[in-house]
Amino acid sequence: MLKPKLLLILACLGLTACEQAQMVGPVGGGEVTVTEFRSGETVLTGLSTSDEDTLIALFGQETVDGYTSLQLLSFLGINTFNNPGFNDATWYVMAVQGGFDYDADGNLLVDQAPAQVFGTLHALVTGEQLNRGGFLVTPVTEAAYRYALDIADSTSDDALRPALDAAAGDLVDDVTADDELDYGDILAWNRILHSQQLRGDIGTLTNALAAGESESVVTAAALALFSTAPPGNEQSAEEFFAQSASDVVQSRCGTCHRVGGIGTRGTSHILQPTSNNDHIALNTEMYRALVGQRGVQYILDKSVGQRGHGGGNRLGNFPEEFAILETFLTLLENGG
Ligand code: HEC
Repeated sequence: MLKPKLLLILACLGLTACEQAQMVGPVGGGEVTVTEFRSGETVLTGLSTSDEDTLIALFGQETVDGYTSLQLLSFLGINTFNNPGFNDATWYVMAVQGGFDYDADGNLLVDQAPAQVFGTLHALVTGEQLNRGGFLVTPVTEAAYRYALDIADSTSDDALRPALDAAAGDLVDDVTADDELDYGDILAWNRILHSQQLRGDIGTLTNALAAGESESVVTAAALALFSTAPPGNEQSAEEFFAQSASDVVQSRCGTCHRVGGIGTRGTSHILQPTSNNDHIALNTEMYRALVGQRGVQYILDKSVGQRGHGGGNRLGNFPEEFAILETFLTLLENGG
């Protein structure tokens, strides 16, 4: 007879419907919810991913004590649906909220004190995939989920999968080794096993998710991972500016870069204050001109104190805000 621990490993190699949540390491004790992607209707709640107590209850303290770190890292953070009866063709969102990251420093050793997770990880999956299991919920699936949300209004259910297939190469390599780079590789990407197959720099997104940052910060960090704007992406640079970038530059740059401020000396980076009713439109156009004249990289370099910025380092210690500025300037560069 197979030992229980072996069974569990086999289970997560795809023999049974099960999934693992990973932030950096596995996230145990996270609350699992499944909602319908289009309607937002909740179809399942009340489950949580396996933590140390789950394992002890299943296998006994002695057995768990005997596990290697790597074994523990593959048993923690697991979710199993008992009687999955999801509608095969429907798109669902599986969310794992909160819990604890058992290897937050990513050194493949179980942390003595697991780090609390404040945000929520998502994966967009069809009912067929949910019934089958064998996927992961990670910052990579989060990025793809945000990408899908961004194009959802202009993309039918049938067109979602090809759009996600086309975007997969921005995030991962051919994880499943089936000679195709597609959405299946995003769902199969396992941080513990596939660090070499990661293409996108998911550090900023991971930090934003772990810290429970706002929706707009998480979305900006996620969308910044994609090389091309999503097909049919309707959000204009001005909308994005109004939504998040304006707050960043007003608070981080506005004290100097305003009429009469010290940042106006010999520069064309002058923000209208929020007291001006047209500040969103005027400031967006100011940045459009600045990008045209100087380029995106020049402005980003100045924001972190490079190129002899008179204002020094403003955003170097604020990766989420830097990501927002970068996304905004890139939208402008692409003519958005
Ligand atoms: C403490 C004051 C101060 C703050 C805050 C500040 N800057 Fe500056 N900035 C300056 C000064 C002074 C100059 C002119 C000297 C120079 O070119 O670096 C300048 C110049 C620039 C230029 C060159 C504009 C041109 O026409 O070539 C850019 C771009 C810039 N800053 C971006 C930023 C961004 C982005 C922020 C906010 C994230 C920011 N700065 C915040 C003081 C500041």
